[in-house]
Parts: sequence; C-alpha cells; structure tokens
Amino acid sequence: MCGIVGYIGERKALPILINGLKRLEYRGYDSAGIAIHNGEKLHVHKKKGKVADLERDVKDKNIDGHIGIGHTRWATHGEPNDVNAHPHVSQNGLFVLIHNGIIENYKQLKNFLIDKGYQFKSETDTEVLVNLIEYMYLEGGTDAEMAVRLALSEVIGAYAIVVISTNEPDKLIAARKSSPLVIGLGKGEYFLASDATPIVEYTNRVVYLDNDNIAILKKDEFVLKNLDNQELSPIIQNIDFNLAAIEKNGYDHFMLKEIFEQPDAIHDTMRGRISSDGTMVRLGGIMDVMDKILKAERFVIVGCGTSWHAGLVGEYLIENLARIPVEVEYGSEFRYRNPIIKKEDIVIAISQSGETADTLAAVELAKHNEATVLGICNVVGSSIARETHAGVYTHAGPEIGVASTKAFTAQVTVLSMFSLMLSQEKGTLPYSDFKYLVKELQHIPGKIARVLEQNAYIRDLADRYKNATNFLYLGRGYLYPVALEGALKLKEISYIHAEGYPAAEMKHGPIALIDENMPVVFLATKDKIYEKVLNNIEEVKSRGGRVIAIATEGDETVRKMVDHIIEVPHVPEPLAPLVTVVPLQLLAYHAAVLRGNDVDQPRNLAKSVTVE
Ligand code: AGP
Repeated sequence: MCGIVGYIGERKALPILINGLKRLEYRGYDSAGIAIHNGEKLHVHKKKGKVADLERDVKDKNIDGHIGIGHTRWATHGEPNDVNAHPHVSQNGLFVLIHNGIIENYKQLKNFLIDKGYQFKSETDTEVLVNLIEYMYLEGGTDAEMAVRLALSEVIGAYAIVVISTNEPDKLIAARKSSPLVIGLGKGEYFLASDATPIVEYTNRVVYLDNDNIAILKKDEFVLKNLDNQELSPIIQNIDFNLAAIEKNGYDHFMLKEIFEQPDAIHDTMRGRISSDGTMVRLGGIMDVMDKILKAERFVIVGCGTSWHAGLVGEYLIENLARIPVEVEYGSEFRYRNPIIKKEDIVIAISQSGETADTLAAVELAKHNEATVLGICNVVGSSIARETHAGVYTHAGPEIGVASTKAFTAQVTVLSMFSLMLSQEKGTLPYSDFKYLVKELQHIPGKIARVLEQNAYIRDLADRYKNATNFLYLGRGYLYPVALEGALKLKEISYIHAEGYPAAEMKHGPIALIDENMPVVFLATKDKIYEKVLNNIEEVKSRGGRVIAIATEGDETVRKMVDHIIEVPHVPEPLAPLVTVVPLQLLAYHAAVLRGNDVDQPRNLAKSVTVE
C-alpha cells in the first residue's frame, strides 16, 4: 500500500506535495519522492527514508513549478532504496509516473520491452509501466493520454497512477483500477491523492475515481473518461470528516482498521501464489532453496510475541501436513541457550517489522552455524528480510497499531501455503485433501468478513467483562496458539491479566483459579478433539466459572453449555486459527477502548522491539 499525491494549479507544487505525502505516510514509509515540471524542466528527487528526509533534501533546491506528483512507498517489488523509490522516469525521459498497486504481469511486459531495447534501473513493476507508456507513445505516434490508455489495456493487476508527459507538461493524467484515487476540485487547481487526507485542507469537493477511469487534469479543466475513451460525468461529493479520522478511513483506531483489513490482507498475501484453479501453491521467494528445504530433517521457527504464536501454528501445520519435525523458539531464548543447529536445518524467522532484535540475532546465529534461513516478514527490505537466504513476504500492508492483528493472520496464511506446498512435494497429503484445503484457504477472506459482522455483539461482551482482573484462554491443537494470542492481545492493550493455556492442562493447576470472577474464553470449534474441549468446558462450569466460547456456527451443544457464544463459520481444522483469532482481537480491542486505554500505542510497548 503506497501513498500518492498530485497537484496542478497556480500555487507552487512542492509544499503541497510534501505536506500531502506526510498525511499519507501511514500508508507506507520506506522511501519517498517527488517530480515537478516548471514548464521547461522536470525535477525528480527521490530517496530511501521518510518524507521528512526527502523534505530536507529538496528544501534548498529552488524547485518552482505548479504541476507535480509525489509518492511515499510501501515496497512490494524491490527493496526500499533510492533507485526503487518513485517517481519513475521512462528511458527516454518522456514520461514520469507514480503508482500504488501491483502489476501482476509485469515480468512478461518487462521482457517484451527488453526485446524492444528498453533497459531497466530498478526492480519495480512501476518502471515497467512507465516505459510501456513511452513505448506506446513512440510506437503509436499518439498523444500522452492515448499512450496511457493503450499501456493500461495491457496491464493485469491493481493500479492508481498519475503521469506527467514532458512533451505535454500542462496536464496530469491519472488512472485507477482497484487501488484508490481521489481528485480534489479547487478553484483553478486540482489535487490528487490516495485518499482525502491530503486534500481536505484545500477543498472538501472531491471525485472518487472508479475502476477503469482516466482523468485528464489541466489548471482549469478536468475531463473524466473510461478506458474506451468515452467521456463520463464525474460524481462530485463533499468530504464531511476531519483529518484525523481520514487517516484511519473512519475507524476510531488503526488497530480496528487493521482488524477489518484482514480479508484484504489475506487475499493480497495469497495473490499470485495460488493458481486460479486451486491446483498449485507456489512461494516464489523460496524456490531457490527448495532442494535444501525438502532435504531438511528439522525446521526451527524463531520469533517473538505474536510472531512466535504464528510460528506455533506453523509447527502444527507443517508437522501435520508435511510431516517434517518442527521446533518453535523464542528469539530471545534461542540466541543465548547455545542451541544445537546443524547445517541441514532450515530456520524460519517470523517478524512483522523485520527489525526485532532478538529474532535478528537468532537469524545471525543460525547463519553462523550454516543453517539455511528463511524469513516471513511484512516489511520489504527490512533487516531480517535482508539477512535471510530466502523468504516470503506477507502483503498485509503497513501495520500501524502496536498490537499485531492482520500481520498475524497474514503470517499464518503464508505458513498454511508453505505447509500445503510441502505436502505435495513430499507426498504426505492426498491430492484431494490438498485441493480441498487450498479451496477452503481461498474462502478464508470471505469467512473472516462474516466474523467481522459480529463486531457490535463482541463489543457488548467486552463491555460486560471489561472490569475483570483476570482471564483464562483455553484451546487445544491448532487452537492452543490462538488461545495464547488471544491472551496476549487482551493483556497488551486492555492491561487485564490473561493467560493462554492448552485446555487439558487446566487440570494441572490453573483450575484452582476458576471462580465466578474469572472469565474463561474457550476456543471450541468442531474438530477431532472437540468432545474433549466440551469436557473441559464442563469442568469450568461446574466450578462456577463464566465461559465465553468461540464455536462453529450452529453449534447448539456449546450454546447450551456456556454463558456466551461467538459463532464462526466452519473451516477445516488446519485453517481454524485464521477465523477464530478474529473475535479475540475484537474482544481485546473493545475492552481496551472501554477501559479508556490508548489502543494504538499501549503503555510501555513499541511497535518494533529493536533493542534487547
Ligand atoms: C504483538 O501484538 C506485539 N506487538 C508483539 O508481541 C510483536 O508481535 C513482537 O514484538 C514481534 O514483533 P515482530 O513481528 O515485528 O518481530
């Protein structure tokens, strides 16, 4: 997810672009750049780092000009560096472009252009697009607008783009498919942005572009068309929310926004990695070391906090589906306990930020012992991603809330795909079961969306239990790590003490805690040990405990046994963590809000623990 801005009008473009990019940094912040045309010359400045770094870079360069574009990047292709930063200029300097989205067929388009003599400086899909536009312009002997239209007709994927043609520097050309783009209508000036955040301080009159829209903006003219060159009547709307709210897309907190983004985050994490007919799973980032993965006799998964919980789910998935022994280690323990690491081992580091010091140290220790190290990270080009031999990026988009939510489900999605892919390479899972699980995995975004519809009900539950001082979370099998994750979510943002436990372990001590003041959350969806969990629920109820159960839709048995039930759609057991964690995220979120806590920045915590 990146942030893009554009301006054309009477004012100097530079400050408008820089301020706009600052408003959009929550969408991505690994590199930033601007391009401004002053009627004679195109100025392009871009660099790795935050918008503030770019601002310092350009403030003494007297960049005047009243038309410009800007971009703050969340890397998806090519690590964050100056070359991969946007804007991108075409080979002959005829076009400059910024892009938010993913071009899925960029490799084929790149090969086509290379055959036509184009050379590329960056690893991005965006540079392919700007050169394709130039190719269409030169080959077709057409104008800039038509060149953009012809190029986009060859593109498969998502895009929001803004283009300046150096031969026609009096206009901005914008287009959109799947990635958001808003036009702000000023007096003799127009603003473009990924959302209304950078626009609302100048005008509250906006047009939200639809898919396959193309907008041609001159200082005093705005023409809207479709890809077939038919003119459209723009629908002008008025923005009526304040600046702060917009960054959160209307959600009260980034955490809630990110909980609700999970269907998209999971969909984006699967995109391009599962064949459309569901018969193949392929994680391109690890294919170079696949021989070592298949020969390995042991995987060691290292992580911290929520990422460690994802690793625990990974252990159950990989051992169950691919029959490879797995150990899961806290980064902080692994790095100091003098572990036995063999060069045949595969070590998998899981980290949303890619900067967690203990996990990074574990990676370095594993490499020192010549193991093959894979990364599962959410930040492209992060330290852990760079240090590992290979890896798979989650495409969850920036996770701003300190409590990890969409990153967790994206990590589990990667681990699910990884286990399924290995199960076929090793012949440990019947093909029919493989196809079934892949199909069910593809249905997960829709099933999570259905769970999210219970947000208000879960809020009421949180209101009922917000003053409890202790919670117990119990689950078995795949749901034991979910119990741990639910407990962590509650304690780190509501500050209510909570413990996660394997449900059967309760009898070995924690059952002494049970009384009417101890809410117990059971993960009790239908699976092969469901009957055992019912017994555990009975044990709690018979001691006066109050039970909230996460259960499979329509489960009247559990409904009769417990005080409150949150129903989730049926999913196969290995995929249950993906849907059952969502109610626990919402329960924790609402409890924290009702207790008046700073949900996005809870006390004592940081988003990334980059120190020991
Ligand atoms: C989880 O909600 C916390 N924010 C924390 O446990 C986090 O998962 C942990 O610090 C690991 O961070 P990482 O995934 O960026 O490595």
